[in-house]
Amino acid sequence: MMSTSATAIAHPNIALIKYWGKRDAELILPNNDSLSMTLDIHPTTTTVTLDADAKSDELVLNGIRATDEALIRARRFLDEVRARSGVCEYARIDSHNEGPTAAGLASSAAGFAALAVAASAVYGLDYSPAQLSRLARRGSGSAARSVFGGFAQWHAGHGSGPTADETSFAEPVEVTRMDIALVVAVVDAGRKALSSRDAMRHTVATSPLYWAWVDSVGDDITEMRAALCHGDLHTVGAVAERNALGMHATMLAARPAVRFLSAASLRVFDEVARLRSTGLPAYVTVDAGPNVKVLCSTGASETVAAAVRAVEGVRWATVAQPGPAARLRADVRS
Ligand code: ADP
Ligand code: DP6
Ligand code: CO
Repeated sequence: MMSTSATAIAHPNIALIKYWGKRDAELILPNNDSLSMTLDIHPTTTTVTLDADAKSDELVLNGIRATDEALIRARRFLDEVRARSGVCEYARIDSHNEGPTAAGLASSAAGFAALAVAASAVYGLDYSPAQLSRLARRGSGSAARSVFGGFAQWHAGHGSGPTADETSFAEPVEVTRMDIALVVAVVDAGRKALSSRDAMRHTVATSPLYWAWVDSVGDDITEMRAALCHGDLHTVGAVAERNALGMHATMLAARPAVRFLSAASLRVFDEVARLRSTGLPAYVTVDAGPNVKVLCSTGASETVAAAVRAVEGVRWATVAQPGPAARLRADVRS
């Protein structure tokens, strides 16, 4: 059933085991599996409206009409939706990120998960969650995971070409015994100099450490899944931290180096290490940006947030917990 407008809400996800590097840039097929937690903060709300008179798609992001790379990515994404649905009308996308955009806080994940859900509704694609995940992946790889709430594993899949496309999507990871919070310490909410896409492409192409990191991911996934199943926060944190720092090592070894971590990021690392030395389980993870996320128990989250707020260069810190799946907002459909 088609409607002319649909609004969807999706939340960012933070990978405990990172996605870093593609084997197919066109289809967005990754080199490794990744595993994430969807957050309950920083939702993206996206409305897609068909316009029978429009000559091209339009994107308004956070109230500003996009003309740059964001518009190109959104158009390419809607081209794919049109090809699948057989509906050729152009659309207007109006999207609002509550969190910082392009700052290493997964705006592309929330953004393309919301766009996949809203666009599939408006273009009449009746998709299962796994199909939505495969579609969202085409906008931004990490978006494949934000289709799901809680914890999700994105399967790298196998092979290449259209048949491989079928094999690469995220699935929920059932976690019942885990008491976990994630404190987002914002040191710089501005746009990163290099997109995740360009940074990972450059890393794969030039870093002599890259494939060693990819080789380590299989064990990280296995250990992470077992630790999540047992509610073992120490192991979840330790594996997430080593996986993220290993990913940053691949970037630092790229030629020329890609460095997202700032002095303030490292001061947060020091504070988290200090907290840990006092017996408090707290571990860092960090994406393609300087902002640090701290994994800890829900009970310790306010203590951790207060501690990182006191670190020089931390502008604010927010406590997040596992959040919901991407969904349509029924009230504004017409
Ligand atoms: P981040 O760390 O925030 O995910 P990326 O470099 O991966 O940063 O992606 C940022 C890009 O994602 C933006 O420049 C834009 O192209 C796209 N993006 C972010 N938010 C949205 C949104 N709500 N709707 C559509 N595209 C978005
Ligand atoms: C470091 O999904 O933003 O956050 O697929 O090119 O859009 P594209 O990249 P993106 O990369 C995310 C990289 C990461 C790790 C992760 O989220 O798994
Ligand atoms: Co991103």
